[in-house]
Amino acid sequence: MWEYFYTVCYLSSAKSKLPDVNPVKLLIIIRKFQPHDFPWVIDIEKKVFDEHDPYFYMQFYETCSEGFIVAEINGFVVGYIVGFRMSEETGRIFSFAIHPAYQNLGAGSALIREIINVFSKTSVSEIILEVRQSNTRAKKFYERHGFYSIGVAEKYYNDNENAVLMRFQLER
Ligand SMILES: CC(C)(COP(=O)(O)OP(=O)(O)OC[C@H]1O[C@@H](n2cnc3c(N)ncnc32)[C@H](O)[C@@H]1OP(=O)(O)O)[C@@H](O)C(=O)NCCC(=O)NCCS
Repeated sequence: MWEYFYTVCYLSSAKSKLPDVNPVKLLIIIRKFQPHDFPWVIDIEKKVFDEHDPYFYMQFYETCSEGFIVAEINGFVVGYIVGFRMSEETGRIFSFAIHPAYQNLGAGSALIREIINVFSKTSVSEIILEVRQSNTRAKKFYERHGFYSIGVAEKYYNDNENAVLMRFQLER
């Protein structure tokens, strides 16, 4: 079956760690997940999260592939985001990570912008997600992208850590 495959490119101006060296221009390709990306996604998930379940990712690909998006730099898959529609009005971000070696280059921002764009073409009017209460960096990242906190789910994770629930309102 022919699969719709999109690519959105972002040029990120990554700051050089060396003084007097100009910012490096990076091409970030944003496209739909393909089955051959599976090992990259699982590798990133293992590096970034304590809990992981490869089974979910193939299931997402089979059931809601529109919201399964990856970021590529220099031919490597460096990050992914998985979002799906919980109801007519509500989209949910299920998992989102950038390989530790490729964080702070703008790939996360490109992915979150793209998932918002994908949801904006549907009937969804809000996007929700959960983030660990201790994950200050991700909370700040989401806030910078227009998400705000709407509550706390106590002992949400297996290790009993609370989750902060965050919401993004889509303009209609
Ligand atoms: C949260 C996460 C997805 C963000 O992805 P990212 O690719 O690092 O995000 P970006 O590079 O777009 O932006 C992150 C930071 O880089 C900065 N940045 C973005 N583009 C930049 C650039 N070209 N040059 C320098 N800095 C840049 C941003 O200002 C931001 O600053 P911060 O350190 O205050 O957050 C990533 O850090 C991650 O995978 N974290 C671990 C997993 C996780 O927490 N997932 C979310 C759980 S719900």
